[in-house]
Amino acid sequence: MKSVPFTAAEIESLIAQHPTPLYVYDEAGIRATARKLIEAFSWNEGFKEYFAVKALPNPRVLGILREEGCGADCSSLLELLLAERAGLSGEEIMFTSNDTPIEEFAKAKEMGALINLDALEHLDYLEKGVGLPDFLSVRYNPGPLREGNAIIGKPEEAKFGMTREQIFEAYRRAKEKGVRRFGLHTMVASNERNAEYFVETARMLFEIVRDVRRELGVTIELVNLGGGIGIPYRPDDTEANLSKISDGIRRLFDEYEMTGVRLAMECGRYITGPHGYLLTQVRHLKHTYREYAGVDATMANLMRPGMYGAYHHITVLGKENEAASKAYDIVGSLCENNDKFAINRKLPQLQEGDILVIHDAGAHGHAMGFNYNGKLRSAEFLLRPDRSFEMIRRAETVEDYLATLRL
Ligand SMILES: Cc1ncc(COP(=O)(O)O)c(C=O)c1O
Repeated sequence: MKSVPFTAAEIESLIAQHPTPLYVYDEAGIRATARKLIEAFSWNEGFKEYFAVKALPNPRVLGILREEGCGADCSSLLELLLAERAGLSGEEIMFTSNDTPIEEFAKAKEMGALINLDALEHLDYLEKGVGLPDFLSVRYNPGPLREGNAIIGKPEEAKFGMTREQIFEAYRRAKEKGVRRFGLHTMVASNERNAEYFVETARMLFEIVRDVRRELGVTIELVNLGGGIGIPYRPDDTEANLSKISDGIRRLFDEYEMTGVRLAMECGRYITGPHGYLLTQVRHLKHTYREYAGVDATMANLMRPGMYGAYHHITVLGKENEAASKAYDIVGSLCENNDKFAINRKLPQLQEGDILVIHDAGAHGHAMGFNYNGKLRSAEFLLRPDRSFEMIRRAETVEDYLATLRL
């Protein structure tokens, strides 16, 4: 059974003032998980977790993670601005974008962020547009050498990164043009809980660091293994074994003589995913060929189930100890039949007004929201260690929605 960090009474008093749907993030859990990841890699001098802003783009959360020693992985101008709002600056930020407009490179350079190039063709674009920075990282796409998975797709078919030949060419040309410090990056896994996968990713990158050193005389100082550590969405899923990941990488680090190389990760889901909860209330029960529970959240609040068929566990608040005796489709009100948080899910007998907690919504949850069918984005709250709820984003209003229209 998955537990929740709040009581039914605490949530009832919250929603008496702020109607559902809404998100709650557990600050203590987020801090503890960030510490755990950083601690696991403490053997590597300079290890940094650049939290993937896209997973939970809220400056209040970025600020908390900064206090824990995390930087930010930004992929767009707005994400750079959010990181700036959270007090992050310079090399606390890594900028990994693709199909990048020059204004975004300009802002990243102005902030002194670590720029990671997605394409060989971007080298000239960056140089002409804003000049090359002192530090440059490149993104590797191993193509057929790695498998990927259903969420991230096959590297071979992915638009991201460069081939091995291209990254060598990028280092060679960048060095000629005066770049003095270098990084290497890849992102080949998503929601992966198998430690071996990350160890193999490290091997792949360490081999390149070694070969680039030998063949080009270029020293790579930063190796970013990407994000992608998975979380146990299902109650019987096992957790990713961090010590196994870290120990395996450490063995290779020694084997490949990587002394002096700083490692980095840019996990989003692993850090905040398990600590975010979407709260929604049952509005209508409906019986046709199946049992439906219509709730006040929709796929516009959390699109993972509709988009990927992803499993999100659901707890009926206050009914934790009741038998899961009836199968329901838990649905929103969008005019799309994939607007379902769960299909044929066994839950305790539901009543209108029941509060459902949708688990593991703390990453790629609110962030992926949208306004289809005129649905508005929900508020976000932080559950503080003193048990208070701090609003860290208000709910979108009808006026917000109408404000961009020319009426
Ligand atoms: C480049 C990059 N880094 C990091 C992440 C974060 O991934 P996750 O939240 O699975 O750790 C993503 C996710 O899309 C990504 O594209």
